[in-house]
Amino acid sequence: MDLATDTAPPASPPPARRAAAVERGGGPVVRALLAGIGAYLPQTVVTNDELAQRLETSDAWIRERTGIGARHIAQAHETCAFMATRAAAAALADAGATAADVDAIILATATPDEAFPATALRVQAALGAHGFGFDLSAACSGFVYALSVADALVRVGQARGVLVIGSEVYSRILDWRDRGTCVLFGDGAGAVFLRAGTGEGTGRDRGILSTHLHADGRLGDILYVDGAVGRPDRPGHLKMQGKEVFRHAVLRLAEAVDEALAANGLDRSAVDWLVPHQANLRIIEGIRKRLDLPVERVVRTIERHANTSAASIPLALAEAHADGRLRPGQLVLLEALGGGLTWGSALVRL
Ligand code: ACO
Repeated sequence: MDLATDTAPPASPPPARRAAAVERGGGPVVRALLAGIGAYLPQTVVTNDELAQRLETSDAWIRERTGIGARHIAQAHETCAFMATRAAAAALADAGATAADVDAIILATATPDEAFPATALRVQAALGAHGFGFDLSAACSGFVYALSVADALVRVGQARGVLVIGSEVYSRILDWRDRGTCVLFGDGAGAVFLRAGTGEGTGRDRGILSTHLHADGRLGDILYVDGAVGRPDRPGHLKMQGKEVFRHAVLRLAEAVDEALAANGLDRSAVDWLVPHQANLRIIEGIRKRLDLPVERVVRTIERHANTSAASIPLALAEAHADGRLRPGQLVLLEALGGGLTWGSALVRL
């Protein structure tokens, strides 16, 4: 289904104050419209109980602290590029688009298959697409960062069709003996296809209304990987000071959602869906309460997917789209925080 058709029902007038938007030649504002969503999850599912058979942990501890019940784990053939290609192809099909419509591919990942070429270009080749592409590294905020860059490319007219993908194979950078980190993450990929358009005829602003990005490199050591891709001798493991990350997440994400709404002159009651990065159910609940949203207005996948880093938001979008929760004209608020530290938000009108 194309979420960005011009068949949306008429709705309330556009917000009084828009986020920075480019008026092109005095005509209607060209934005990045969300045209299609796709996902790929590895076949293998590992439950908390299975982890508890090899680690000193329990289903109760993991669920209570994080909300996680299970995670998908990639097998050897399910590489970052493989999963990304599957998700991207699904997003194109959902949009009724083909590889010929793709001008750019931005792939957010902290777990590329190779140092280079960019995994985005492995995807480009697999799809038979042209144009340009690159990988983007912003850990769990990667998808929001990639959306922001894609939005800018569309607004300045450098691309009309952009695939934005989050694909992660964290199982390969986890220390499976460290119960403090390995229980938290899962593998998977999600993608959206953005198409330049005006949403004309729908009576309201459509597409990506705003994005806000932040980073504080001084906090790099509270969440990092102690190695590098392309170094077989030291591929690295994820290290995290969980409590510190938690503390920053609660503060920064609260600011980020307020900032997104204020920049668009919108009240929190305008939000139809919160689609947060899925790191910890307690963090998600904190933001939900701040927005005063009912539980059923938050898309939550953490129980079954765990934290899939840059893939978590597009995976959640794909699930809500597939089961019919997302409808044209609705306002969706995305937010994420991850290693860097990086954090940010995107506000999207479907
Ligand atoms: N099972 C059982 N016990 C455990 C486990 C486990 N899997 N892991 C840790 N413990 C123990 C610890 O050893 C510690 O024991 P002790 O008191 O005897 O020393 C106790 O549980 C408490 O450990 P903490 O780490 O203090 O637990 P906390 O309540 O902080 O929860 C958690 C840890 C879930 C990681 C939490 O801090 C968190 O979610 N942090 C935020 C993570 C996040 O948001 N990440 C987002 C970005 S991720 C990215 O960018 C890649």
